[in-house]
This record gives sequence, C-alpha cells and structure tokens, in this order.
Amino acid sequence: MNIDANPNLPVTSLRQLAEAEAACRRCPLYRDATQAVPGEGPKRATFMLVGEQPGDKEDLAGKPFVGPAGRILDQALHDAGIARREAYVTNAVKHFKHEMRGKRRLHKRPSNYEIERCKIWLERERELVKPAAVIALGVTAARSLTGKTVTIGKLRGKPLALADGTRLFVTVHPSALLRIEDAADKHAAYRQFVADLKSAATAR
Ligand code: URA
Repeated sequence: MNIDANPNLPVTSLRQLAEAEAACRRCPLYRDATQAVPGEGPKRATFMLVGEQPGDKEDLAGKPFVGPAGRILDQALHDAGIARREAYVTNAVKHFKHEMRGKRRLHKRPSNYEIERCKIWLERERELVKPAAVIALGVTAARSLTGKTVTIGKLRGKPLALADGTRLFVTVHPSALLRIEDAADKHAAYRQFVADLKSAATAR
C-alpha cells in the first residue's frame, strides 16, 4: 500500500495509518526527525485532542504528549474529568520540526505548507475514530482543522462545527501554560484551560 503516492487509497485501520505516516515523504520534515509520531488512543474515542507536532521527547518515544506539555495536559484532562486513555491524542503534524542549538534540538513551529501537507493524516484519523468532538490545542491544530489562520482568543469557549458536522473546540496549547512565569497568571491560565476541556466534554 502506498497511500503517500496515492492519498485516495483507503486506510482501514489505525495500524495501517501509522505505517503510511511512517513512510510519508510529503514534506521535508521526515529528514531530521527520528520517526513519525502517530496518534494514540482507542479507535472509537469520544474525544480527539489535536496538538501541534511531536516535541523532542515524543520524537524519541514515538508517542504523542509524553514530555512536559503532556504532563500538564494529563493533569488538566484529569481535572476536567476526561480519562486520557479514553481520548484519542494526536498532532496536526506528525514529524518533529526543530533546529539545532549546540546539542539541543529546539522546537520550530511548522509552516502552513507543512500543516497542509500533513493534513491528510489527521483527516484519515478523524474518518477512522469518528470522535463526537475534536479539541484543537493551539493555533497549528486550529489551522489544520479549519483551514484558516485563527486566533485562539476569538475561537475559544464556543463550539464550532467542522465541515462534516463534528464539534470543534479550540483552546490554548498546553506548552503556552509552561511558558507563563508569574504563578498567579499561570494558575489562572491553567484554570481556563481546564474549563475549556470541561466544556468540550460536557457539550451536547
Ligand atoms: N506538543 C505537541 O503539540 N504535541 C506533542 O505530542 C507534544 C508536545
């Protein structure tokens, strides 16, 4: 199966999808990444959480959200009453984009071109998992899902609808919380993040 050469080929399982992502050469990001990081979670999850791209730890582990952003996401999901094992967690871009600073690999935000090239994988994930609600974590995920450049402040807190009718909720990326230095501001931002997750979980 070479879905990369022919993106119209059907992918009928998450395992097949992960294999196709691993072979993806649709943009140059595969060259410097250790591996593609597929989504993770039950095939019929109610919620799909979409991040930006794997970070350093995820690139090495081959699993999404296992580093510092993953820890804060796990805590927030718990506080929002969502079990992570019942959510499907993935990224808009499947390879880690970075630049070297000495021996460190520093995250670089994916370009609109890279987001667009990677979008077929997120679409296939949505077709397979069929979540009731998708939660976009940050601008890259929101851009991939809506096809538009968006501001989180304008979209957060209100349910939107994707073209196929799936509910979409937009909130901040958990790594934005990690960057806030002031403890009170950080706490307030965290509470807001948990409230966003909770409203996605309880919306009918
Ligand atoms: N940030 C993301 O957007 N995704 C991950 O998997 C990890 C960090």
